[in-house]
Amino acid sequence: MRLDRFLSNLPRFSRKDVRFALVARRIKVDGLVVSDPLFEVREFSRVECDDEVLQDGKPARYFMLHKPPGCVSATLDPQHPTVLDLLDEPDKQDLHIAGRLDFNTTGLMLITNDGLWSRRLTEPKTRQSKIYYVETEQEIGPDYVKKFAKGFYFAFENLTTQPAELEVLGPHSGRLSIVEGRYHQVKRMFGHFNNKVLRLHRERMGPLYLDPLLAPGQYRSLTTEEILAV
Ligand code: URA
Repeated sequence: MRLDRFLSNLPRFSRKDVRFALVARRIKVDGLVVSDPLFEVREFSRVECDDEVLQDGKPARYFMLHKPPGCVSATLDPQHPTVLDLLDEPDKQDLHIAGRLDFNTTGLMLITNDGLWSRRLTEPKTRQSKIYYVETEQEIGPDYVKKFAKGFYFAFENLTTQPAELEVLGPHSGRLSIVEGRYHQVKRMFGHFNNKVLRLHRERMGPLYLDPLLAPGQYRSLTTEEILAV
């Protein structure tokens, strides 16, 4: 929300008070004086007026989980364990998953309460690559690489997928880089060749790699460098 709107929503400030307070440099956001009325205030920002705290700012939280097979990428599920069940954290209802994985897909899962941050990672327009290790039932044919680069028409969404890079590692395995995260995207791409995906493991999202020290089911907080890299 804009800083001027944030301030004028508080009962103590009229619009005129807000203008004066900003010009008089009485308002601080995260410890720095801000006089720009358009400055974006987030739920994580600490806002002060003359050293009086107007909003404390809740902590932004970022976790990396090694998703095991057999759990659901949802916050609640009536039947199966969810990825959030694996987190021993308070206020889990504030957290969301940045880029879901299917029930049996394993690997890097990012969980946060910062919606702007997760959108930067997941929205197709930001073109952040997601890297998957894939094993398939049938052999990966010679025509696959070109087709992945050209794109697949997905009738349900009425779109053609963005160019994807497939590196063939063996007759039944590959490493795939895609910039979108459409529903069952990787399985549907291989499904075009009637080739079933038997194993799918996400290794990377944008600049963030799955920490090799995390066993399936384990998680850790992201470092400041990792958070800022996105
Ligand atoms: N594509 C899929 O088909 N499944 C996943 O879990 C992730 C990407």
